[in-house]
Amino acid sequence: MTADELVAEARRAAQQSYSPYSKFRVGAVVVDSEGRRHTGANVENAAYGSSICAEATAISGAVARGVRRIEGVAVACVDAAGVDVAYPCGNCRQLMNEFGVEWVVVTAGKGSEVRRHQLSDLHPYGFFLPG
Ligand code: THU
Repeated sequence: MTADELVAEARRAAQQSYSPYSKFRVGAVVVDSEGRRHTGANVENAAYGSSICAEATAISGAVARGVRRIEGVAVACVDAAGVDVAYPCGNCRQLMNEFGVEWVVVTAGKGSEVRRHQLSDLHPYGFFLPG
């Protein structure tokens, strides 16, 4: 699948976002090591700090289905008009680090530029437990 196709799928996934507080819908697609795709969307909470990012729901869903290695993640923020490109937060970069993510595709509102990065550029020196 091309980066553009993955972004289209992430945009569709964002339609399921539960974001009544921020009104900022985000969708994500995880591509696992077998090439299977797993989608997610952000899920907010009245206790704002309990909200979960789209990348986190997509990664958690994949892992709950048995995935242990993830090739890449595409993210799309469909309410990001005026924002060039929206990048994953630090917590989600560390979640990606855990499962060996190599590349991250980012974009924002419809028609926005699509960029592909290496996770090692976005999150160098990620944390692993020693030993
Ligand atoms: N959000 C994501 O889903 N992914 C990110 O990478 C950054 C932020 C969500 C969390 C919250 O529901 C909303 O965007 C506004 O912060």
